[in-house]
Amino acid sequence: MKRICNTILVTGGSSGIGAAVCSMLADDGMTVYAASRSGRSPRPDAPGIIPVCVDINDSASIISAIRRIKAEKGSLDAIVCCAGNGIGGAIEDTSSEEARYQFETNFFGTDNCIKAVLPLFRSQGHGRIITVTSVAGFIPIPYQGYYSSVKAALDMYMKALAIECRRFGIQCCSVMPGDVKTGFTSARKRTAASQSPDSPYYAQSQKSIAKMEHDEQNGMPPSRIARAIKRQLGRKHMKFTVVPRLDYSAIRVLERLLPTKLLLWAVGLLYDN
Ligand SMILES: NC(=O)c1ccc[n+]([C@@H]2O[C@H](COP(=O)([O-])OP(=O)(O)OC[C@H]3O[C@@H](n4cnc5c(N)ncnc54)[C@H](OP(=O)(O)O)[C@@H]3O)[C@@H](O)[C@H]2O)c1
Repeated sequence: MKRICNTILVTGGSSGIGAAVCSMLADDGMTVYAASRSGRSPRPDAPGIIPVCVDINDSASIISAIRRIKAEKGSLDAIVCCAGNGIGGAIEDTSSEEARYQFETNFFGTDNCIKAVLPLFRSQGHGRIITVTSVAGFIPIPYQGYYSSVKAALDMYMKALAIECRRFGIQCCSVMPGDVKTGFTSARKRTAASQSPDSPYYAQSQKSIAKMEHDEQNGMPPSRIARAIKRQLGRKHMKFTVVPRLDYSAIRVLERLLPTKLLLWAVGLLYDN
């Protein structure tokens, strides 16, 4: 059977979910450009993976990677946007610079990538855009309020984009993982004020973030998310939203059904107790 996607650009391809996506797609015979600031190959032994140095906060570096792919392969079938990071700390303990940092890569960096591929996708008459958002985009996570906010914003952006782009043959999908064991946990920054014992949130935020980090490090392997992404790339029509693993999809259903008061109470029991 003819494969739908042959050439894919994966941002955040050097580590975690992005690295697993690169590996799985390359094993399936696709050519994968693995973009990251370090330009590290997630698997130097895999001939189908081509590492590229890209900082998604620098539009010029993304545009030059896309020009290179066009020159080398003639077309690009999909972009999978995995590059991202997290910050931890209560909202009152987060400066506006720190909040902007959280939005910089996760939202504006991803937006840079999508804007850079759209002209090519429109001219081809096809293209697929997958962003890795998070369960935190529909469950409000205390002490990660800006992370939850940026993932919710990105999810809504993807839905609007899906409507705008469908007439050009472009499909969009937001993949929302729960806890995944990756380098994301150790890369998380704590806001400056949240680390001071003088903060009124200090004890609770330390405890709560430690619990989240424990859950992440005991979470799914990144290959579980890669499998969900590969499945979407193989479908004629991608789903708009994918929540990998049954328990997390059940949480998504509950979030829609429960009154907000009850939802906040339940999340508080988990992370603010
Ligand atoms: N782990 C989880 O529990 C979890 C759960 C839900 C959603 N997610 C989301 O999944 C995505 C991937 O996270 P992960 O868990 O795989 O984390 P990770 O292991 O820390 O990987 C992050 C990747 O992003 C790249 N990156 C960061 N800033 C970049 C930039 N400015 N330009 C280009 N590349 C950049 C990093 O490479 P360089 O440092 O070399 O640039 C790395 O390859 C993130 O969007 C995260 O929010 C993670």
